[in-house]
Parts: sequence; C-alpha cells; structure tokens
Amino acid sequence: MSNAQKTSHKMWGGRFESAPDDIMVEINASIDVDKRLYGQDIQGSLAHVKMLGACDIIEKSDVEAISKGLLQVKDEIEADDFVFKAELEDIHMNIEARLTEIIGDVAGKLHTARSRNDQVATDFRLWMKQSIVALIEEVSSFEAILKTKIQEHEMTIMPGFTHLQIAQPVTLALHFGAWSSMIGRDKMRLRDCLERMDECPLGAAALAGTSFPIDRDMTASELGFARPVANTMDAVASRDFVLEFLSTCSICAIHLSRFAEELIIWSTVQFNYVRLSDSFTTGSSIMPQKKNPDAAELVRGSSGKIVGHLTQMLIIMKGLPLTYNKDMQDDKEITFQAYDMLSLCLRAMTGMVGSMDVHVEQMRADTENGFSTATDLADWLVRTLKMPFRRAHHVTGQIVKMAENNRCQLDALSLADMQSVEAGIDETIYDCLTVDGAVRSRLFKDV
Ligand code: ARG
Repeated sequence: MSNAQKTSHKMWGGRFESAPDDIMVEINASIDVDKRLYGQDIQGSLAHVKMLGACDIIEKSDVEAISKGLLQVKDEIEADDFVFKAELEDIHMNIEARLTEIIGDVAGKLHTARSRNDQVATDFRLWMKQSIVALIEEVSSFEAILKTKIQEHEMTIMPGFTHLQIAQPVTLALHFGAWSSMIGRDKMRLRDCLERMDECPLGAAALAGTSFPIDRDMTASELGFARPVANTMDAVASRDFVLEFLSTCSICAIHLSRFAEELIIWSTVQFNYVRLSDSFTTGSSIMPQKKNPDAAELVRGSSGKIVGHLTQMLIIMKGLPLTYNKDMQDDKEITFQAYDMLSLCLRAMTGMVGSMDVHVEQMRADTENGFSTATDLADWLVRTLKMPFRRAHHVTGQIVKMAENNRCQLDALSLADMQSVEAGIDETIYDCLTVDGAVRSRLFKDV
C-alpha cells in the first residue's frame, strides 16, 4: 500500500488516526461486485442532486457542476478509462472520489441528506427492476417457443406418466402445456415481485431520514419508482425484495430443472422421444457414439445453485437487528450470480426446446405398448354397464393381466376373451381401447 493510502480513509476517516489494515481493506471491499451498479449509482445521484437543487438545499451552479462531473465519470467507466480502487470500498465511494478529482470539493455536496445506506438500496432496486423486466422478456421468449411446439403437437399422442410409469395416453400439446402454465406463473411471480419492490429508499439517509427539506416524491418519480418507501428504517434495513426475487428465481429454476430432466430422459436411446440438436449437446472424448445433453444437465445443476443463493441470503438476514448491517453487502454478489444463472438457463432451454426434434412415432408406439388405455376401459365399464368404479378397476385389472399373459395389447384381445371376464362387454369397448379413441374421449382443450 502506498503512503497516501495509509493515511486515514478520505471518505470517512475524520476521527481515525490510522489507515485500515490491508486485511480490513480486503474484507470490506465490494467494488469488484458492485461496480456493476455504476449506471444505477450515477442515475440515483443525478436525481438526488437535481432534487437538492430544486429544494434550494444546494446552489443551482453546484447542481450543474456535479451533474456534469457525474456524466463524465459515467463516460470514463464506459470507455474503460476508470481505475476502480479497493481501498475506496465500493462503487459509491469510487464514483464520488473520482467526481472530487474532476470537480473539486463541491463534489462533497452530493452526499448532503443522503447516506450510502439509502443510496445502495436505491441502486440495487433500480438494478433489480431492470433485471426483472429482462427476465420477463426471456421467460416470454421461452413461452413463445413452447407455444409453437404446442400448436405443432396438438395431435401428437404420447404416454402421460406418473411415477415415470406409463399412465394414460395424452397429447404432447397437453404435456408442453403443463410446462407453459408453470412458466406463465413464474412470469406472474416476477411481475408481482416487481410491483412490490417498486418503492424508492432515497431520503431515508442512514436510517432516520434527514432534517433537510428534501422532496422524496420528486426523487422517487425522477427514478421511475411508484413511490418512496414509507418508513425510513424499513427503507435501509429490509431486503425482503431480494429474498422475494431470489425465491421467484428459485421456483422458476426448479421448473426449468424438471423440464431439463425430462429432456435428459427423453433423449436417451431407451426413450428416444427427442433428439437434441448438435448445437445444444456435446460429444464424448472417448466414446464416439455419445451425444450428451450437457446444456440440460447444467440447467438442472444450476437450479441447485440458485436455490443455494436464496438459502445464503435467507441465512444472512436471519439474525440481523435493525437497520443496516454490513452483512447485507453480500446481497449483491448473491443476487447477481443467481440472476446471471437463471437468465442463461432460460436462454439455454429456449434454444434446446426450439431446436430439438420430436420422435412422434416412438411416443405413439410406447403409448400403444403400455396398456395406457386401461383407465379408459374402466371408465367404459362404469359408463356403459353402470358398474361401481372400484369393481370396474378390478375387472380391468383382470383384463390387463390376460393381455399381459397373451403378450398382446388391450385392443388385440378378442371380444370373447374380454367377455369371459365380464359378460356385459360388447364391441363398442374397442372405441376406447385405441389410444386415439381414449385421447378423443377426454378434453384437452385448455393446453
Ligand atoms: N457497500 C455497501 C453495501 O453494499 C454500501 C453501504 C455501506 N453502508 C455503511 N453504513 N457502511 O452494503
């Protein structure tokens, strides 16, 4: 460390006699992570300084000098012409220090009626609002791909599964429709989350508000927030907006993971329901025949990490007294990572689903092989012979056993065979024994 850096901290060191230890600098610094918030930080400062001027708290000429200087800092960062310094801790102080270099002491007026506590909460909410909008767009692209597949496979028969055992014939449209419904709710959750967090912490200062005659409504609307956060202590202490965002991301990630798991299973030689495109698979360095669903596996794995980030944040917040505590500084690293992962997973799933081939014949063949119309047979007995369902279930079980012994499908049994189990059965039963008849008899309109 240089001697200059060894003097007490220039932003807050008035009462300190010695500089922070190198270890202190290292544990305290968040700049590597929060430099990502430079745009929001400058945006927040521009709104704050404008308000300070409008409320006659600082001179108009100071507002101009500070605003111009802030825009220059922004240009420098964007031109990669800015040195971020760990000893200046975070993005807020890095920007303010550079502003001071550019415009001199007047830069110090920017922090009037503000603390880093309300500043960071504002920056982070601004970032999160944009990020939620970006995620909603990515979810929408995924939904659009699913919609195309749903339309394409309106008539594609496949086995529906429970316990991963063939259950009843369904259409691929119904199956994809289920994913689409879940993803649609993820989008709703993102919107809810956005709406609830759309409040501006600025003006809360350290925790107790400020004695300056500030206009919190002005900064809130200048920054595009619906309103200021009402309680100043809540404004700097709460991170439930982060927890809600991470929960929402986690639920969405779990949906993607389950979907990815199906693609992994479906793309095996044993299932052979889909062929993932070369662009979303990898080869093996030793087994030339292999085509591995790595992207799907990584989506599945990432969901674990995203949930882990939610857990990290929940546990960080668990014992914190009001209001701000430095533990909260890690909220950004955790959230940025979860966001980046979810965004990548959404794009990977969109790419994978959009580019895969569906093997409709294999899906149909499995449906025809697995006695998947047994429930429809039982329903026929109930409907036509007015049999109680429990008895119909039992009778059907006996017929399935007979087909199993004869090594044939249900619709290949003769009428006489079936009548030996239940005399009332007539030839109309065959309508529901074929997979098409079975699917037709049920309603799949709402996919
Ligand atoms: N870098 C800090 C964070 O991200 C900014 C707030 C610091 N506040 C403080 N009172 N030390 O949380």
